[in-house]
Amino acid sequence: MQLIDGKATAEAIKAEIAEEVKSIMAAGGKQPHLAAVLVGHDGGSETYVKNKVIACEKCGFKSTLIRYEDDVTEDELLACVERLNNDNDVDGFIVQLPLPRHIDEQKIIEAIDYRKDVDGFHPINVGRMSIGLPCFISATPLGIVTLLKRYNIETAGKKCVVLGRSNIVGKPMAQLMMQKQYGDATVTVCHSHTADIKKECREADIIIAAIGKPDFVTADMVKEGAVVIDVGTTRVPDATRKSGFRLNGDVKFDEVAPKCSFITPVPGGVGPMTICSLMKNTLQAAKGW
Ligand code: GUN
Repeated sequence: MQLIDGKATAEAIKAEIAEEVKSIMAAGGKQPHLAAVLVGHDGGSETYVKNKVIACEKCGFKSTLIRYEDDVTEDELLACVERLNNDNDVDGFIVQLPLPRHIDEQKIIEAIDYRKDVDGFHPINVGRMSIGLPCFISATPLGIVTLLKRYNIETAGKKCVVLGRSNIVGKPMAQLMMQKQYGDATVTVCHSHTADIKKECREADIIIAAIGKPDFVTADMVKEGAVVIDVGTTRVPDATRKSGFRLNGDVKFDEVAPKCSFITPVPGGVGPMTICSLMKNTLQAAKGW
């Protein structure tokens, strides 16, 4: 069994990005600039955005954090998106999700200029990705295909099971694994209405778990020699931690790991790769398609 070190891979990629930024700026080019919009004080979102700002520093990017309280109106947020769309210094920006219930998330996403949508959530980017055109690809799925590639994990012709069908992870993940230039795999997407998830998983060469159910994937669901990618990051209470919680993956790691050829840990697997893919997308936005 080989542990896939997402943290080390992400650090290496950020160092590569920083080198590229240095040479862009040495040639008189513009410093890439990522802006992030954060609404409210959700602990998870605060941490993610803080880590994105730190990653920008590592990559040599400029970053701007724009904060609003929970009671921000939809119109105020739309006006902020419009300002960022028109700000020539900002190459790309994200609006951290989830947003408060009184705000229509989809409306906000669709207001973002797709050429600055480094999260890859805009329907234009989703559509372009699905037919293999230049676009911004959602950061978590992009991070996962990057990890598979860096670890030389064969995907072509393999049976890949994606657990979960979210717009942010499950759907784009399935698309990438199916596409020629990324996965070239035979893909099955499982969700809450799948008749026999255990059976589908047992037949898989590659399992990508993104359902947000702690310890859902157990040893009896995994074929000997399978590759297991764990996207889960549920915060579960843990009195032994200073923070009072720990991040729990979708995979019961201790019992599944011995059966795998490769597996990602939580934390330190997919999470750091998500942020580094956002940096890659931002560099791409700065360079132009
Ligand atoms: N919330 C959880 N993941 C993400 C992400 O990748 N981007 C944004 N904007 N919000 C998120």
